Amino acid sequence: MSIGDPAAIEVDKLDVEEAKLELARLGSAIAHHDRLYYQQDAPEISDAAYDALRLRLQAIEKRFPALIGEDSPSLKIGAAPSRQFSSIRHGVPMLSLANVFDAEEVAEFLRRIRRFLKLQEADRLELTAEPKIDGLSIGLRYEHGALVTAATRGDGYEGEDVTANIMAVDDIPHRIGAADVPDLLEVRGEIYMTHAAFAALNRRQDESEAKPFANPRNAAAGSLRQLDPAVTAERPLRFFAYGFGDADQLPCKTQWALYAAFRRWGLPVNPQARLCSCAEDLLNAYRHIEAIRAQLGYDIDGLVYKLNRLDFQARAGFVSRSPRWAVAHKFPAETAITLIRDIEIQVGRTGALTPVARLEPVTVGGVVVASATLHNEDEIARKDIRLGDTVAIRRAGDVIPQIIAVETDKRPDGSAPFVFPVRCPVCGSQAARESDGRTGRVDVVRRCTGGLICAAQRLERCKHFVSRHAFDIEGLGRKHMANFYENGLIESPVDIFTLERRDALKIPGDSGQYRRGWQEKSVKKLFAEINARRVIALDRFIYALGIRHVGETTARRLARFYGGTDDFLKAMSGASMGEESKDFETLVGIDGIGCVAAESLTRFFREPHNRSVIEGLLAEIEVVPVETAAQGSPVSGKTVVFTGKLERMSREEAKATAENLGALTASSISKKTDLVVVGPGAGSKLRKARELGVTVLDESGWFDLVGT
Ligand code: IVH
Repeated sequence: MSIGDPAAIEVDKLDVEEAKLELARLGSAIAHHDRLYYQQDAPEISDAAYDALRLRLQAIEKRFPALIGEDSPSLKIGAAPSRQFSSIRHGVPMLSLANVFDAEEVAEFLRRIRRFLKLQEADRLELTAEPKIDGLSIGLRYEHGALVTAATRGDGYEGEDVTANIMAVDDIPHRIGAADVPDLLEVRGEIYMTHAAFAALNRRQDESEAKPFANPRNAAAGSLRQLDPAVTAERPLRFFAYGFGDADQLPCKTQWALYAAFRRWGLPVNPQARLCSCAEDLLNAYRHIEAIRAQLGYDIDGLVYKLNRLDFQARAGFVSRSPRWAVAHKFPAETAITLIRDIEIQVGRTGALTPVARLEPVTVGGVVVASATLHNEDEIARKDIRLGDTVAIRRAGDVIPQIIAVETDKRPDGSAPFVFPVRCPVCGSQAARESDGRTGRVDVVRRCTGGLICAAQRLERCKHFVSRHAFDIEGLGRKHMANFYENGLIESPVDIFTLERRDALKIPGDSGQYRRGWQEKSVKKLFAEINARRVIALDRFIYALGIRHVGETTARRLARFYGGTDDFLKAMSGASMGEESKDFETLVGIDGIGCVAAESLTRFFREPHNRSVIEGLLAEIEVVPVETAAQGSPVSGKTVVFTGKLERMSREEAKATAENLGALTASSISKKTDLVVVGPGAGSKLRKARELGVTVLDESGWFDLVGT
């Protein structure tokens, strides 16, 4: 920030020109963060930092009302609905709440209401107080008791139609049947995810190598805004009802009675809701909920106070984007200062190295925190986080605390920048960062390359090794594998083939008894099954190694190209010498093998640990060239290109059929192409095929040839 930069000037000291600039800057920053939050479910800044932007904008607009433009963020809520879902117009806008942060602001909120409603000192003023759930708001439209639509908030006036997904949320009844349910009732409430469901979901994300969600709110939003409702159904979302939008005559006169009616109708209402009759009651509710916050099992970011009488709510109405009759009493961002005792590198089941700061334990918002995530090595370098540093940490919406700032003036003498390890701390293998072959961008995550021997990844790798498309050892299901792993019977895939020789399924000693759950018959069956897999095709073998970016198709392409195991292994060790090597050039030149897979293969084969596991395996099993059954087919060994719109099969299916028949498929035409199958709309490829004199068939010609 330079001197004269309006962003650095206090609101009171801004002149008109500076205020104009500052409003423009804040406006576009808020719009940017709204887009990230509402449409991409991927906020970049904390809620507190976002609130600060809005508060500054409001303060400037208050000083310079003439500068309030038509597109001021203070007149908008959220962001326009994304285009993936159809939209629903809200009969009653879905607004947001103004925030207060302390007792004085709560008192001012009450005074304002009293003034507005012209109430006397002695008049009773009841309010409800309840947790403000950190989820996403939803409007559920019930007609004659039946749930007909569900819409997200969107920009407050128009939201996304998420009806199909909401139908999969157990907390939300599809019918509410009671005599006093209004014919038309739009129930408003919050969709959220519990901490337990969030942790389980992120475990699953990790297993499938998908990006984890940053916090339960993002996870809930991402889960609700799935185009496939089946995915939503697998992610346990919860719901609390807290209000209404469009509605015929309600059978109640107060917010409190509305909650009782909701409960009667089978709609969940937060059990922490209280009825209060003065500021002190509200503050007591606030203190109580703040104290039990960590035990609630879901994220909340404050309390909401609402006028109890619905007629008062109607009279109080709205100011710009928030109701006058309700307010959010936000918790302060929970921060604390502590020391970094150690930086530990954890290795996940997929080999990702994640740095974690071990902290001098400190209480943040009622919870003792002893560690914080450091995300990745770039983040450590960016913030220049060092051992022994004094840091400010925060527990905001996120369950895992984050380091927000380093107090460099308190840094001990002689401290040095943290050096991120380039070897896996668990198994000592090389740990590398992938780069995207096309864009050259380097992945932020460093990964261990010793998947087969690394204790952090071994179990997952062993499970993959025996899975259906790899070695297909059915008797060694996930449960048995985990059990064998826990008991030290199998630590690497080689151990699978020595189980029998080691008599591993018998209890050690000479009792001759089998381990729990096993009998002679089942043990024999398992060993027979394992022995039946001692001869395996090269493509399955390559796939079984679980090398990143080497799935079944890539494995098949490699196996077909190299033919025999010796040739394959020789080529891989040659390619591992470096990108200039002839073998590497050949490898990336194989049709369908991109740079990403090629680099992943060379990283894997460069690692001595992996090579010794392969040697161990080859001493136990025989790897044979890819199944030769397809050799009799008319396209076996031929290179086939599919182009244009195919009508009887998808391009994927066409390629798979060809490959199963022993053909190699390619996407571009060259002198090596033997056959081109064209559908309508084939343009330049057809021309090129003709130029090169390559055989061209239409789709039915293809079926005639291969006989299906
Ligand atoms: S009442 C006019 N009650 O907070 C809006 N809102 O900024 C009245 N929220 O988007 C809302 N818990 O989704 C209300 N118990 C609660 C709430 C709650 C969470 C959300 C709501 C809204 C945001 C307000």
